[in-house]
Amino acid sequence: MYLAIKYLHVTCVVISITGFFLRGWLTFAGSPVMNRRWLKWAPHLNDTILLAAAIGLATMSGQYPFVAPWLTAKIVGLLAYILLGVVALRPGRPRGVRIAAWLAALAVFGYVVSVALTRSPAGGLLWLGWR
Ligand code: HEM
Repeated sequence: MYLAIKYLHVTCVVISITGFFLRGWLTFAGSPVMNRRWLKWAPHLNDTILLAAAIGLATMSGQYPFVAPWLTAKIVGLLAYILLGVVALRPGRPRGVRIAAWLAALAVFGYVVSVALTRSPAGGLLWLGWR
């Protein structure tokens, strides 16, 4: 059961980042594809499942955010990803700001994946020899 939820979580992770990358690309290219109705709700559904699976994994493994530092880092990273994503994809701000937010969101997501793989808030820094 735990493994099934972990696969669900990781599948949603892959869908989330692939979708976010493509939506940013299409937005900045001015593609009309971005007007499709399903693109308004589908990412939220996927991210809700991602978070629900994360809560299930944390509960089943007895590791909680604000107790286990790596899970706290994941929550903070997830919030940063969401906020930067809103800045990047919502119209209104200058193009340069939106592209910078999009790139920063992609980088934050990479950091959160590295936190998941190392189970440390230092994440990818550990691979660079940091301790
Ligand atoms: C952008 C958000 C997130 C990303 C990219 C992400 C990524 C991942 C990845 C790649 C794994 C698999 C790690 C492995 O195979 O060793 C994983 C596992 C896990 N994640 Fe997330 N995650 C995110 C959000 C969260 C949040 C918010 C929580 C906590 C509430 C969480 C809790 C967990 C737990 C408990 C595991 C299982 C660790 C294990 O037993 O191996 N994740 N996550």
